[in-house]
Amino acid sequence: MMDSIEVVAQLGLGAEYTAWVRMLSEVGQPPDGLPDLSPDDLATVGMEPQDQPDIVAACQDVFATPPWRWLLERAYHAVQRDVGDTENMRPMPNLPVELGTNATCFWIVVFLCAVRDIRHWHQTQGVPDDISMDTLADLGRHTRLYRQRNGRTGLDTQWWISLAFRGGLFGIGRLQYAPYHLLTGPAGPLFWYDDATAASRGPGFRRGDPVVGLHIPDSGPLTPSVCVDSFARARAFFREHVPGYADGVVTCTSWLLDEQLQQYLEPDSNIVQFQRRFELVPGTRDSDASAFHFVFGRTPDALDQLQPQTRLERAIVEHVKTGGHWRLRTGWLRLSEQT
Ligand SMILES: CC(C)(COP(=O)(O)OP(=O)(O)OC[C@H]1O[C@@H](n2cnc3c(N)ncnc32)[C@H](O)[C@@H]1OP(=O)(O)O)[C@@H](O)C(=O)NCCC(=O)NCCS
Repeated sequence: MMDSIEVVAQLGLGAEYTAWVRMLSEVGQPPDGLPDLSPDDLATVGMEPQDQPDIVAACQDVFATPPWRWLLERAYHAVQRDVGDTENMRPMPNLPVELGTNATCFWIVVFLCAVRDIRHWHQTQGVPDDISMDTLADLGRHTRLYRQRNGRTGLDTQWWISLAFRGGLFGIGRLQYAPYHLLTGPAGPLFWYDDATAASRGPGFRRGDPVVGLHIPDSGPLTPSVCVDSFARARAFFREHVPGYADGVVTCTSWLLDEQLQQYLEPDSNIVQFQRRFELVPGTRDSDASAFHFVFGRTPDALDQLQPQTRLERAIVEHVKTGGHWRLRTGWLRLSEQT
């Protein structure tokens, strides 16, 4: 049996991994061992065909190579134990890219092992099958985005994916929803009202009140009809399965809510129509990086490296070229008022 010191030495992991490996050592092996993975697991998480060969190879090698298997067993056991616990996040570091496909695909393999655990939890909570599948398909989507950004198969947004695999995020049609308590943890939101203003707005706006965070995955046009369909289904879902959240406030923090976009996009564009659903909270944070990340997949060293094609791409570049900055904004809406 290996120990953590041998694992670190054999893989050449630096000091920055010490705390993580120690935590894994404490978590120990999963009581029932590792599951047998099958092609169905890849389908469940919406893995695209281009990504599957490297992932299958990584699964085989990680399962078969002692130091990798040591990490996998314990990282999987941690994810398995956290199903249903949306509070206590753990470190989930990227592994060194120099270690190859095992490293870039490591967290994909971990989540594939956990597919049956989260599917089972969804079933016990009565989460409808289509919502369970939409939720887990975020793993395939983020793997595609990683490939588009890096030119290889892998995943570096495991902290985000872990939310879906804990039962803290639900994909419902076009949009994603994460229940949380206002101003009590990492969901923030980034901006909110001061205590007096929040109190004057009544229940639903105060620190600790139950709210839902709204997220917009990169998965096709954000037409009003797909939004309305998702909002209606989300309201029904929360009413039945997560009581106390369906009629409260839904918050969103995003570059997509920057009203400066209205200077460049048509009033009937999907983004502008989406923005109009929200009441904005005071406060802005400059973040050109966020706009570049979600539109171009990277922040360029120089603007002339980019070849903007769409209206939005031209807007993102022009605004920064003329000295402006893109901003993160927080807004809120109510599901019951969306038509
Ligand atoms: C949100 C999103 C779905 C909106 O796309 P949409 O429905 O096509 O939006 P619009 O109709 O308002 O698009 C207006 C214009 O911007 C372009 N555009 C929209 N989103 C784009 C994107 N991410 N990259 C490049 N161009 C984009 C459209 O092609 C259109 O250009 P055109 O008039 O030249 O054809 C899309 O931006 C997206 O997938 N973003 C990534 C996810 C994201 O940013 N989430 C928020 C994280 S905080």
